[in-house]
Amino acid sequence: MKDLEAQDWESLKAAALACRECRLCETRRTVVFGEGDPGARVMFIGEGPGKTEDETGRPFVGRAGELLTRIIENGMGLNRSDVYIANVVKCRPTVDQKGTRDRPPDPEETAACSPYLVRQIELIQPEVIVTLGNPSTRFLLNTSVGITRLRGNWAEYRGIPVMPTYHPSYVLRNGGEKSPLRKDVWHDIQMVMNRLGLPVPGK
Ligand code: URA
Repeated sequence: MKDLEAQDWESLKAAALACRECRLCETRRTVVFGEGDPGARVMFIGEGPGKTEDETGRPFVGRAGELLTRIIENGMGLNRSDVYIANVVKCRPTVDQKGTRDRPPDPEETAACSPYLVRQIELIQPEVIVTLGNPSTRFLLNTSVGITRLRGNWAEYRGIPVMPTYHPSYVLRNGGEKSPLRKDVWHDIQMVMNRLGLPVPGK
Protein backbone atom coordinates (compact mmCIF):
# COMPACT_ATOMS: atom_id res chain seq x y z
CA MET A 1 0.00 0.00 0.00
CA LYS A 2 1.23 3.48 -0.87
CA ASP A 3 2.47 5.86 1.79
CA LEU A 4 1.00 9.18 0.78
CA GLU A 5 0.97 10.75 4.22
CA ALA A 6 2.96 13.89 3.60
CA GLN A 7 1.76 14.65 0.10
CA ASP A 8 0.19 18.00 -0.75
CA TRP A 9 -2.67 18.29 -3.26
CA GLU A 10 -0.45 18.66 -6.28
CA SER A 11 1.84 15.73 -5.57
CA LEU A 12 -1.09 13.58 -4.46
CA LYS A 13 -2.94 14.21 -7.72
CA ALA A 14 0.21 13.65 -9.76
CA ALA A 15 0.77 10.32 -7.98
CA ALA A 16 -2.83 9.25 -8.61
CA LEU A 17 -2.68 10.17 -12.29
CA ALA A 18 0.45 8.04 -12.74
CA CYS A 19 -0.72 5.20 -10.46
CA ARG A 20 -0.19 1.57 -11.47
CA GLU A 21 -0.85 -0.04 -8.08
CA CYS A 22 -3.67 -2.31 -9.27
CA ARG A 23 -4.98 -3.88 -12.47
CA LEU A 24 -7.58 -1.15 -13.04
CA CYS A 25 -4.80 0.98 -14.55
CA GLU A 26 -4.66 -1.42 -17.49
CA THR A 27 -8.18 -0.67 -18.70
CA ARG A 28 -8.80 2.90 -17.55
CA ARG A 29 -9.04 5.78 -19.98
CA THR A 30 -8.58 8.41 -17.28
CA VAL A 31 -7.93 8.54 -13.55
CA VAL A 32 -10.88 10.17 -11.79
CA PHE A 33 -9.12 11.87 -8.90
CA GLY A 34 -12.09 13.82 -7.47
CA GLU A 35 -13.19 17.43 -7.67
CA GLY A 36 -14.58 20.31 -5.68
CA ASP A 37 -13.57 22.75 -3.00
CA PRO A 38 -10.44 21.61 -1.09
CA GLY A 39 -11.87 23.56 1.87
CA ALA A 40 -15.33 22.00 1.56
CA ARG A 41 -17.48 21.55 4.67
CA VAL A 42 -18.98 18.40 3.24
CA MET A 43 -17.47 15.58 1.23
CA PHE A 44 -19.41 12.96 -0.78
CA ILE A 45 -17.74 9.62 -1.41
CA GLY A 46 -18.95 7.12 -4.00
CA GLU A 47 -17.50 3.81 -5.12
CA GLY A 48 -15.68 4.28 -8.41
CA PRO A 49 -15.91 5.89 -11.83
CA GLY A 50 -18.42 4.62 -14.39
CA LYS A 51 -18.22 4.96 -18.16
CA THR A 52 -18.87 8.70 -18.42
CA GLU A 53 -16.53 9.44 -15.54
CA ASP A 54 -13.79 7.30 -17.12
CA GLU A 55 -14.24 9.22 -20.36
CA THR A 56 -14.26 12.68 -18.80
CA GLY A 57 -11.98 12.28 -15.78
CA ARG A 58 -14.68 13.81 -13.54
CA PRO A 59 -16.59 12.08 -10.71
CA PHE A 60 -20.36 11.66 -10.79
CA VAL A 61 -21.15 13.14 -14.20
CA GLY A 62 -23.29 10.30 -15.61
CA ARG A 63 -26.93 9.58 -14.67
CA ALA A 64 -26.11 8.90 -11.02
CA GLY A 65 -24.09 12.09 -11.01
CA GLU A 66 -27.03 14.09 -12.29
CA LEU A 67 -29.07 12.83 -9.34
CA LEU A 68 -26.25 13.61 -6.90
CA THR A 69 -25.96 17.11 -8.36
CA ARG A 70 -29.72 17.64 -7.88
CA ILE A 71 -29.42 16.51 -4.26
CA ILE A 72 -26.58 18.97 -3.65
CA GLU A 73 -28.02 21.91 -5.57
CA ASN A 74 -31.81 21.60 -5.33
CA GLY A 75 -31.93 19.71 -2.04
CA MET A 76 -29.13 21.28 -0.03
CA GLY A 77 -29.08 24.67 -1.73
CA LEU A 78 -25.32 24.45 -2.39
CA ASN A 79 -23.34 24.60 -5.60
CA ARG A 80 -21.65 21.39 -6.67
CA SER A 81 -18.37 23.32 -6.56
CA ASP A 82 -18.93 24.08 -2.83
CA VAL A 83 -18.53 20.42 -1.85
CA TYR A 84 -15.86 17.82 -2.59
CA ILE A 85 -16.75 14.65 -4.52
CA ALA A 86 -14.49 11.60 -4.60
CA ASN A 87 -14.59 7.82 -4.88
CA VAL A 88 -13.01 4.90 -3.08
CA VAL A 89 -11.24 3.88 -6.29
CA LYS A 90 -10.05 6.33 -8.91
CA CYS A 91 -10.17 4.04 -11.95
CA ARG A 92 -13.22 2.34 -13.47
CA PRO A 93 -13.87 -1.25 -12.37
CA THR A 94 -15.80 -3.34 -14.90
CA VAL A 95 -16.88 -6.97 -15.00
CA ASP A 96 -13.98 -9.06 -16.38
CA GLN A 97 -12.22 -5.78 -17.13
CA LYS A 98 -14.14 -5.76 -20.41
CA GLY A 99 -15.25 -2.14 -20.20
CA THR A 100 -18.89 -3.02 -20.59
CA ARG A 101 -20.63 -3.52 -17.22
CA ASP A 102 -19.54 -1.64 -14.11
CA ARG A 103 -18.94 -3.50 -10.86
CA PRO A 104 -17.95 -2.48 -7.33
CA PRO A 105 -14.20 -2.38 -6.58
CA ASP A 106 -12.80 -5.59 -5.10
CA PRO A 107 -10.87 -5.67 -1.79
CA GLU A 108 -7.43 -5.60 -3.48
CA GLU A 109 -8.35 -2.60 -5.61
CA THR A 110 -9.79 -0.83 -2.59
CA ALA A 111 -6.67 -1.52 -0.53
CA ALA A 112 -4.42 -0.30 -3.33
CA CYS A 113 -6.37 2.91 -3.96
CA SER A 114 -7.70 3.92 -0.55
CA PRO A 115 -4.53 5.77 0.58
CA TYR A 116 -5.44 8.47 -1.98
CA LEU A 117 -8.87 8.87 -0.42
CA VAL A 118 -7.46 8.83 3.12
CA ARG A 119 -5.07 11.63 2.20
CA GLN A 120 -7.84 13.60 0.44
CA ILE A 121 -9.90 13.47 3.65
CA GLU A 122 -6.87 14.54 5.72
CA LEU A 123 -6.25 17.50 3.45
CA ILE A 124 -9.89 18.61 3.33
CA GLN A 125 -10.81 17.93 6.97
CA PRO A 126 -14.52 18.17 6.15
CA GLU A 127 -17.07 18.78 8.88
CA VAL A 128 -19.21 15.95 7.51
CA ILE A 129 -18.68 13.02 5.15
CA VAL A 130 -21.59 11.49 3.24
CA THR A 131 -20.84 7.95 2.08
CA LEU A 132 -22.86 6.80 -0.93
CA GLY A 133 -23.57 3.07 -0.89
CA ASN A 134 -21.75 0.05 0.44
CA PRO A 135 -18.12 0.30 -0.71
CA SER A 136 -17.35 3.74 0.74
CA THR A 137 -19.43 3.13 3.87
CA ARG A 138 -17.78 -0.23 4.55
CA PHE A 139 -14.32 1.13 3.92
CA LEU A 140 -14.60 4.24 6.11
CA LEU A 141 -16.50 2.57 8.93
CA ASN A 142 -14.44 -0.60 8.68
CA THR A 143 -17.53 -2.79 8.77
CA SER A 144 -19.25 -5.48 6.74
CA VAL A 145 -22.72 -4.30 7.79
CA GLY A 146 -24.86 -3.27 4.80
CA ILE A 147 -26.04 0.22 3.86
CA THR A 148 -29.71 -0.56 4.54
CA ARG A 149 -28.92 -0.96 8.22
CA LEU A 150 -26.35 1.82 8.47
CA ARG A 151 -28.01 4.62 6.52
CA GLY A 152 -29.63 7.44 8.40
CA ASN A 153 -27.44 6.99 11.48
CA TRP A 154 -24.40 9.06 12.34
CA ALA A 155 -21.12 7.21 12.48
CA GLU A 156 -17.54 8.46 12.68
CA TYR A 157 -14.31 8.24 10.73
CA ARG A 158 -11.23 9.53 12.60
CA GLY A 159 -13.37 12.01 14.53
CA ILE A 160 -15.31 13.20 11.45
CA PRO A 161 -19.09 12.59 11.48
CA VAL A 162 -20.16 10.25 8.68
CA MET A 163 -23.69 9.94 7.30
CA PRO A 164 -24.13 6.82 5.19
CA THR A 165 -26.89 6.92 2.58
CA TYR A 166 -27.94 5.03 -0.53
CA HIS A 167 -25.88 5.38 -3.70
CA PRO A 168 -27.72 7.43 -6.36
CA SER A 169 -27.34 4.51 -8.85
CA TYR A 170 -29.17 2.26 -6.40
CA VAL A 171 -31.98 4.81 -6.15
CA LEU A 172 -32.16 5.02 -9.95
CA ARG A 173 -32.26 1.23 -10.26
CA ASN A 174 -35.08 1.08 -7.74
CA GLY A 175 -37.75 3.32 -9.17
CA GLY A 176 -35.77 6.42 -10.19
CA GLU A 177 -37.63 9.70 -9.65
CA LYS A 178 -40.49 7.80 -8.04
CA SER A 179 -38.34 5.55 -5.88
CA PRO A 180 -39.45 5.23 -2.26
CA LEU A 181 -35.72 5.29 -1.43
CA ARG A 182 -35.65 8.99 -2.30
CA LYS A 183 -37.51 9.72 0.92
CA ASP A 184 -34.79 7.93 2.89
CA VAL A 185 -32.01 9.80 1.07
CA TRP A 186 -33.76 13.12 1.71
CA HIS A 187 -34.08 12.21 5.39
CA ASP A 188 -30.33 11.48 5.57
CA ILE A 189 -29.44 14.67 3.70
CA GLN A 190 -31.61 16.72 6.04
CA MET A 191 -29.66 15.32 8.97
CA VAL A 192 -26.49 16.52 7.28
CA MET A 193 -28.02 19.95 6.63
CA ASN A 194 -29.09 20.26 10.26
CA ARG A 195 -25.61 19.39 11.42
CA LEU A 196 -24.08 21.99 9.08
CA GLY A 197 -26.66 24.60 10.09
CA LEU A 198 -28.04 24.83 6.53
CA PRO A 199 -31.69 25.91 6.25
CA VAL A 200 -34.01 22.97 5.54
CA PRO A 201 -36.99 24.02 3.37
CA GLY A 202 -40.32 23.81 5.20
CA LYS A 203 -38.72 23.75 8.67
N1 URA B 1 -20.68 6.12 -9.31
C1 URA B 1 -19.73 6.35 -8.39
O1 URA B 1 -19.70 5.73 -7.36
N2 URA B 1 -18.85 7.29 -8.65
C2 URA B 1 -18.85 8.03 -9.75
O2 URA B 1 -17.99 8.87 -9.89
C3 URA B 1 -19.86 7.76 -10.68
C4 URA B 1 -20.76 6.80 -10.46
